[in-house]
Amino acid sequence: MAKLAPSVLSADFSRLGEEILKVEKGGADYIHLDVMDGLFVPNITIGPPVIRNIRKITDLPFDVHLMIEKPERYIKDFVDAGADIITVHAESSVHLHRTVQQIKSFGVKAGVSLNPSTPLENIKYVLKDIDMILIMTVNPGFGGQKLIHSMEEKVREIRKIIDSNQLDIDIQVDGGIKPNNVKEVIDWGVDIVVAGSAIFKSEDVIKTTKEFKQLIEK
Ligand code: DX5
Ligand code: ZN
Repeated sequence: MAKLAPSVLSADFSRLGEEILKVEKGGADYIHLDVMDGLFVPNITIGPPVIRNIRKITDLPFDVHLMIEKPERYIKDFVDAGADIITVHAESSVHLHRTVQQIKSFGVKAGVSLNPSTPLENIKYVLKDIDMILIMTVNPGFGGQKLIHSMEEKVREIRKIIDSNQLDIDIQVDGGIKPNNVKEVIDWGVDIVVAGSAIFKSEDVIKTTKEFKQLIEK
C-alpha cells in the first residue's frame, strides 16, 4: 500500500501549523519539506529554524528534501531540527557515498534524489546504503508544474532493480501528482507519493488529502 507525503511548499506559510494539522487529519503518512537554496534550484524556501518549530506540533515523520548545493554542510542541522528522512540530490554532492554515510551516522533515514535528466546509473553504487530513492517527476524548484511522463520508464526500471536484488528501498515520486494521475503513477511501482499544490491549493485540504489516500490505497 502506497504512502502519501504532502509537500507544504504550496501551503499558506502564515498558517503553516494549521495546514500541517489538516493533512494529518486527512491521513497523511509523512510531511514533505522542500528546502531550496537559490543555487541548486532557482528558488529559496525554508531551513532548520522553521522545521524545528513545526516539529512541536506533529509526530508525523518529517521527510526533508534538500535541494541545496553541498548538502553535507547542513545534515546535522536538519537532524537536530527534527528530520526523520533526509534526501539529498545525487547532482548536488560530489562525494555522495560519504554524504549518505553522514546522514545514516545520525540514525535517520537516507534518501537520494535524481533530477529528470539524471540516469539511474549515477546511484548504482549507493543502492545498498540508502533507504529511499526519490525520482523527480518535474525539474525541482517550484510547485504546480506538469508531471514528466517519461519518468515512468525510470521508475519501472528502479522497481525491477530493487525487487530483483531484494533491496529495502522505498521509491518516492515528487512533482505534478494530482488525483487524476496518482493511480497511474502508483502502477509504475511507487511506494511514496508527494503532492503539493494538488492538496494545498485545493478548496478543502482535509478532504483532498483523504481523497488521495483513498486513491492510493485501492
Ligand atoms: C518541487 C518540490 C516538490 C513540490 C511538488 O521542486 O520538490 O515537492 O512541492 O509540488 P507539486 O505537487 O505542486 O508539483
Ligand atoms: Zn520535494
